[in-house]
Amino acid sequence: MVRILQIDTSPRYEYSHSRTLAQEFMEKWSSHHSETQIFHRDLGLNPVPYIDATWVKAKFTVSDQYTPELAAAIKLSDTLIDEFLAADRYVLSTPMYNFSIPAVLKSYIDYIVRPRRTFTIDDNGFKGLVNHKKMLVITARGSDFRPGSAFASQDFQEPFLRTVFNFIGITDIQFIHANALNSDLREQSLAEARTAIQDLAPFW
Ligand SMILES: Cc1cc2nc3c(=O)[nH]c(=O)nc-3n(C[C@H](O)[C@H](O)[C@H](O)COP(=O)(O)O)c2cc1C
Repeated sequence: MVRILQIDTSPRYEYSHSRTLAQEFMEKWSSHHSETQIFHRDLGLNPVPYIDATWVKAKFTVSDQYTPELAAAIKLSDTLIDEFLAADRYVLSTPMYNFSIPAVLKSYIDYIVRPRRTFTIDDNGFKGLVNHKKMLVITARGSDFRPGSAFASQDFQEPFLRTVFNFIGITDIQFIHANALNSDLREQSLAEARTAIQDLAPFW
């Protein structure tokens, strides 16, 4: 049994290219792997709030020293981390917003990157605790960020996601990007992303 956590980010639902492509991947994957359990975290439908001062205090407090206020502040983070750690694999769909990720996805990441839960610090430095997992990231972008294009050097989305998920221990991360969706390259880009999805799904 493979447990996949599907995380969708776009608020545009049926108009969202990243959601649609992720759904196509899940359907293709499921047709090849009957023993699959899918969990869904929908950040578009149920956005997580931003962290606050009480939450930050709780983050750096060991759990047996929580006050009721700190315990309440960290509860959502624990729920999200429990869900995250229960999965073997992740399919994350996200738009590019302002050269990076939507704020709601950044907020989700702030909740799940936590000492003692998803990373630790020892004499050798930081060590990710989310090991032996895989991630597929499917993105939608209005402009063209492919290598050699004018915007290629301004992609802060893939490097950020690789860095932060590497930090917590996930090193097997693949990206499928649908670029240039707000241009006349849209249909070609979507077709290329779909081909990548069809090729990857049986073997991922
Ligand atoms: C707030 C906002 C910021 C955006 N910033 C960028 C950007 O920096 N680069 C880009 O290529 N497209 C940008 N776009 C366009 C989206 O990435 C594009 O429309 C994409 O298809 C959205 O994903 P979705 O279809 O899954 O909702 C932006 C769109 C919005 C709404």
